[in-house]
Order: sequence, then C-alpha cells, then structure tokens
Amino acid sequence: MKTHLAPVSVPAETARAETAQDDGSLPTLVGHVAEYERDIDRILISEREIQDMVRKLGERITEDYRGRQLLLVGVLKGAFVLMADLSRSIRLPLMFDFMDVSSYGAATHTSGVVRILKDLDHEIEGRDVLVVEDIIDSGLTLNYLLKNLRTRRPASLEVVALLQKTSVQQVELDIRYEGFTIPPDFVVGYGLDFDERFRNLPYIALLKPEAYAGAPG
Ligand code: PRP
Repeated sequence: MKTHLAPVSVPAETARAETAQDDGSLPTLVGHVAEYERDIDRILISEREIQDMVRKLGERITEDYRGRQLLLVGVLKGAFVLMADLSRSIRLPLMFDFMDVSSYGAATHTSGVVRILKDLDHEIEGRDVLVVEDIIDSGLTLNYLLKNLRTRRPASLEVVALLQKTSVQQVELDIRYEGFTIPPDFVVGYGLDFDERFRNLPYIALLKPEAYAGAPG
C-alpha cells in the first residue's frame, strides 16, 4: 500500500490562520504549535514580515558581495533558522561555518559571560566573513565574537542581525545589515528560545511573563 502517496489534508485551523494573514488582518496564533501558544502573549513580528525582511537583506548582501567569496558564520543556536532562510536569499556561491557561544543559559537576561562552546571549523584569514546573528540584546556576545574573529585577520568582517534591542545595548556595535529594532521584552520564535522551547515558531512572539516567572534572571 503506497501510504506515502496519500493526499495530505491541511487542518482547518491552519488554513484559517494562513487566510487571516493573506487578508492583511492581524496574524493569529492558531495553527502552529498548539502546545506553545498558551505561553505566548502576542505576535510581535509576523512570519510574512520576517520573510520580507530576510529577502531584502539577502538582496542587499547579494549586491554587496558579488564577485567575492562569502563565508557565512552562524552563531548557534539561535541563528540557525535565519541562516537557513537568509542563505537561500543570497544568490551567490556561499560557504558556511558556525560558532556556538553561550551567554544566557536558561535565563531571560544576559549574564555578560561569553564562552565559546564550538569554534569555527575553518581558518578565516583573508576571507570575507559575514556573521549571522538572530538577536543583539546587550551586545556583549557579538562584541566578544567580533574582537575574537578580528584577531584571525579576515579580509572583511560584517554582521547581519535580524533583531536588535537597541535600548538595552551596552556596547557600540557597527551592524552592516540590520533587520528589526524591538522593545527590550523577552521574545521567542524564529530560532529564539526560552529554555530550549519555541525555536521552531515561524514568527517572533512576546512570552507571557508568567511563562518565565521563576527563571533565574
Ligand atoms: C542569544 C542570541 C545572541 C545573544 C545575544 O544567544 O542568539 O547570541 O544571546 O545576547 P547579548 O547581545 O546580550 O550578548 P543565547 O546565548 O541565548 O544562545 P542560543 O542562541 O543558543 O539560544
């Protein structure tokens, strides 16, 4: 029996959610991950707004790096979703590497302590490097990373960041490709987690305070 060829039925709730956004009305929570949605206050940036922004960033990067050999460096874990979408909006030959750093743990506020959990697999000397970050909060993680990467003498070193909480940034950073500026609230989705949950939501959402009450700050 070829069960894998059976038609896939779209749940009615999912269909309604997509229709709502297609109509230009407010995005609704219905239809993504039901188990997460009781903890979500509201959507801050919709899936469509994110995808439009990612496409625009990809077009700019394509123009700026035409004829060069671009290396994308994703900062794990949060940037994996942006990295996947953005890289497919960049119409150039690309190479990929990842670093994993830790600044938050399971808490909702940055500690300022940055540890490299996984370093790059390859040398970047003489390479055009673009660091891909999901969010800049205090800026301490990126500040540390850029200082560290500069010592490895790349030909160029720039940053693309989808989200920035500019009001709480503690260090001046030169971000070449900026997405959205957001309030200093705790956000999840599109790679961003709370306690490793919510990363697979396609939108950016505000968490209900009671959902992270009691977490170490
Ligand atoms: C987040 C985010 C940035 C960093 C920003 O990562 O992805 O790397 O925090 O914070 P900062 O500007 O205050 O330094 P996190 O440490 O939560 O790890 P994760 O990406 O694995 O969730």
